[in-house]
Amino acid sequence: MTDAVILLFGATGDLARRKLYPAIYSLYRERKLGDRFAVIGLARRPRTNEQFREDVHDSIKEFARYNVTKDEQWESFAEHFEYMSLDTNNIDAFKELGTMTNRLDTKFEVGGNRLFYLALSPELFGNVSNNLKEGGLLETSGWARLVIEKPFGYDLPSAEKLNAQIRKVFEEKDVYRIDHYLGKEMVQNINVVRFANAFFEPLWNNKYIANIQITLSETVGVEDRGSYYDHSGALRDMGQNHMLQTLAMIAMEPPSRLSPEDIRDEKVKVFRSLRGFQTASEVRSNTVRGQYSSGTMKGNQVPGYRQESSVNPESTTETFFAARVFVDNFRWAGVPFYIRTGKRLPLKTTEVVVEFKNVPNNVYLSKKHKLEPNLLVFRVNPMEGIYFKMNAKQPGSEGTILPISMDFCQSCQIGLNTPEAYERLLYDAARGDSTYFTRWDEVALAWKYVDKIASAWAERTDNLMLYPAGTWGPDQAQQLLSEDGFKWWPVNGQDEGEVAWEMNQK
Ligand code: BG6
Repeated sequence: MTDAVILLFGATGDLARRKLYPAIYSLYRERKLGDRFAVIGLARRPRTNEQFREDVHDSIKEFARYNVTKDEQWESFAEHFEYMSLDTNNIDAFKELGTMTNRLDTKFEVGGNRLFYLALSPELFGNVSNNLKEGGLLETSGWARLVIEKPFGYDLPSAEKLNAQIRKVFEEKDVYRIDHYLGKEMVQNINVVRFANAFFEPLWNNKYIANIQITLSETVGVEDRGSYYDHSGALRDMGQNHMLQTLAMIAMEPPSRLSPEDIRDEKVKVFRSLRGFQTASEVRSNTVRGQYSSGTMKGNQVPGYRQESSVNPESTTETFFAARVFVDNFRWAGVPFYIRTGKRLPLKTTEVVVEFKNVPNNVYLSKKHKLEPNLLVFRVNPMEGIYFKMNAKQPGSEGTILPISMDFCQSCQIGLNTPEAYERLLYDAARGDSTYFTRWDEVALAWKYVDKIASAWAERTDNLMLYPAGTWGPDQAQQLLSEDGFKWWPVNGQDEGEVAWEMNQK
């Protein structure tokens, strides 16, 4: 049941504008959100309902998957949106908000459900949760859920503190912590591909898999988020959450049932099995940290990180990191997971490459030819799909063997307009499905792992490598793999000379 009054804190912010209003609109257009809902936009700055609806309209026009025109359908959608300027420290204002919420609940026959969405700075989470309670907003006949954005803390102690504040007011089952990577179509598809295909499961272990590579690369710099990012860096911004969550989806055991808790239990087991670093020298030999210097992107000169606005000109914050991670359990013992992420890299892409072990080298084919290993690649972003790389005879040749790829490009399908991560996550939160939200124990274990890296890095700064914008990060990231006899596979495309077997439905 998705009927709810959505109270959106941070209503004039970037996230609301780029992602949340377009997501609500798509859900409405697809009839996943009926007519029994209301959205209350909350922020400090004054705005009339008309101005607010105009803002919502503009954001939908710019960012939504569906076109919007100011017709009757728009009018009936827009009337569900109201705005209130709110000082989050003022309890009386929360009481007033309670009255407004109840009025809209009655008007749209919502039935008492409340979704509190905090698109706010995390320092405010505790205070806002508390004031929601004090202001009487939790005294309702329906459910009351809290949706919060990352970052969930800066390290384990601060995350624990934040969690304690929230848990004074909300039970864990009602807290929906967003990691928007878990809302991405292809991240969710990892489990389906693994568990719904008979031929993967027998191979999905250290007997057949040589290594796994996870790349989350971005072309953008820090944009206008310098003051947040300079305090955070790539490890906390992407590593603690999106990267480790993606790794958990690849490494987890099949859950015994498809309930949210069973799935999250399996992910937690992966986090518990991560081989924690014991010493700073272990961290140094298994991780690489880099920062972009000025360089060229698509022919344009771009500034280095230290020249970006709101960034300390002597900053030692990393904008790139790579690591060799081990999951010490029966299935994965000895298989390295290489992860890397960075800003100002040559391509925007998210890919997971599963590299299989080669055929035994005494087989006649591998004696005569240098065979490439089989690869299974999940393309998460911006292309969505899966491809499998294997060896085959070059047509018409006298036994020349070539790597070929079987390519299923989901995003190439004409007419396919896959929902944005935020649509799926908002929909799930409204119907109470917490599968793709992070539970506290996952978050805590991920911090525990990452904190060890961060504290070793903090001890000395001579391990921060500069890389020119537009390159794939410091050379040390390549060495991390070459030490083990591997290499990063090129992302977002096939090597030259390959024959693509198009399997797209046209
Ligand atoms: C966010 C990070 O969580 O993810 C950003 O804070 C990053 O720094 C973004 O740019 C990347 O998300 P996506 O969906 O564009 O890959």
